[in-house]
Amino acid sequence: MGVFSADTGHEQVVFCQDRTTGLKAIIGVYSTALGPALGGTRFYPYASEEEALHDVLELSRGMAYKNALAGLDLGGGKAVIWGDPVLDKTEALLRAYGRFVQSLNGRYWTACDVGTYVQDMDVVARETRFVTGRSVEHGGAGDSSILTAWGVFQGMRAAAEHRWGSPSLRGRRVGVAGLGKVGKYLVAHLLEDGAEVVATDPSEAAIAWARQTHPQITLVGDVQELITSDIEVYAPCALGGALNDDTVPVLRAQIVAGAANNQLAHPGVEKLLAERGILYAPDYVVNAGGVIQVADEIEGFNFDRAKLRATKIYTTTKQILELADDEGVSPATAADRLAERRMAEVGRLQTIRLPR
Ligand SMILES: NC(=O)c1ccc[n+]([C@@H]2O[C@H](COP(=O)([O-])OP(=O)(O)OC[C@H]3O[C@@H](n4cnc5c(N)ncnc54)[C@H](O)[C@@H]3O)[C@@H](O)[C@H]2O)c1
Repeated sequence: MGVFSADTGHEQVVFCQDRTTGLKAIIGVYSTALGPALGGTRFYPYASEEEALHDVLELSRGMAYKNALAGLDLGGGKAVIWGDPVLDKTEALLRAYGRFVQSLNGRYWTACDVGTYVQDMDVVARETRFVTGRSVEHGGAGDSSILTAWGVFQGMRAAAEHRWGSPSLRGRRVGVAGLGKVGKYLVAHLLEDGAEVVATDPSEAAIAWARQTHPQITLVGDVQELITSDIEVYAPCALGGALNDDTVPVLRAQIVAGAANNQLAHPGVEKLLAERGILYAPDYVVNAGGVIQVADEIEGFNFDRAKLRATKIYTTTKQILELADDEGVSPATAADRLAERRMAEVGRLQTIRLPR
C-alpha cells in the first residue's frame, strides 16, 4: 500500500530504523489539525512490512477521529514497532525508538498499545518527553480500563435513552463478551444500575472472578450462545471484528455498545445492523475513556477532570445517534462526519494569525 498512491490523507509517515538494536518502527501522523498527534505504540510481529504499514495507517487515522470526538485538543497518530515483543524488546531498542519520537519534536505523542506496557513507556521516556501513559511512580495515571469502562457505560446509557426513552438499564438484559480489564469494571456499573448481566469469557480465571465477585451474573459457554440468548444490549469487550456476517444476522440484542476496538469486521456491517434495526453505538466513540485518561496525564493527571470528560461520552453518543437519524445515515457514518466537522472547524482556527 502506498501512502501517496492510495491517497490515505496522512500528513506524515516516518520509517525509523536502528540496525544495531534491530528497531524497525513506523510512526503515522494522520492529522495535527486539533493538536499534537496522540496514539499508542503497537509492538507486533507483522508478517510483512506492508502489513505493518497498513496497520499504522489505519490505526493513526482511527486515533484522529477518536481524539476529535473525545473533545481533546489532540490530533491522531500511532506507531508500530515491527517485531516480537517477547523476543525483541530491549532497553536499547525502546530507547532508540524514543529518540525517533523525540525527533518529531512533539508532532507525535506516544503511549501504550498492544505489546507495550507502562514500564516500556518509562524506558521510552528516558529519550523523549513526548510520551504519556506512564507508570504511577512516574506521575502516570495507572489503569486506563477504569475510565474506558465508565465511558462505555455512558455510551450504552445514551443508546438506551435513544432506543427506549430512558438511559436506565434497570431490568435490561446486557450481554458482556469478555471479562477482562474493561469488562470487569463495566459489569460492576451495569449491576449497580440494576441490569441483568449475561457474560462469557474463555478464561477460567475470569469466570472464577465472576462467580466469586458477582454470583448474580448468568455465565454462558461462548459468544455464540451469548448473542443468540435473549439479551437486549450486546457489549463486545474482547477482540475486534465482533460484528460480522455471521454474528449480526443472529444477534438478538437491540443495542450494541462495547469496549472492543474495530467491532465492525468490514465496511458494510453497519448496514446489516441497520437493516436488522440494531442500534450501534460506534466503538471509537464509547471506548475513548482510555485515551481521555492518557491525554489528561499530559496536563498532570486529575482523575475527577478525566472522569468528567469521559462522562461526556454520554452526550456525544446521543448527539451522534440523533445526527444519524436526522441525516439518514448509520451511527458509524454520523460519528465520522462529526469528527471531520470538528477537525475542519477547529483546525481552521490556526489560520487566524496571532502576533508573535
Ligand atoms: N483497556 C483499555 O483502556 C481499552 C481502551 C479502549 C479499547 N479497549 C479495547 O477493549 C477490549 C478489551 O480490552 P481489555 O483491556 O479489557 O483487554 P483484556 O485483554 O484485559 O480482556 C479481554 C478479555 O476478553 C476475553 N476473551 C478473549 N477471547 C474471547 C472470546 N472469544 N469471547 C469472550 N471473551 C474473550 C479474554 O479472556 C479477556 O478476559 C479490547 O478490544 C481493547 O482493544 C481497551
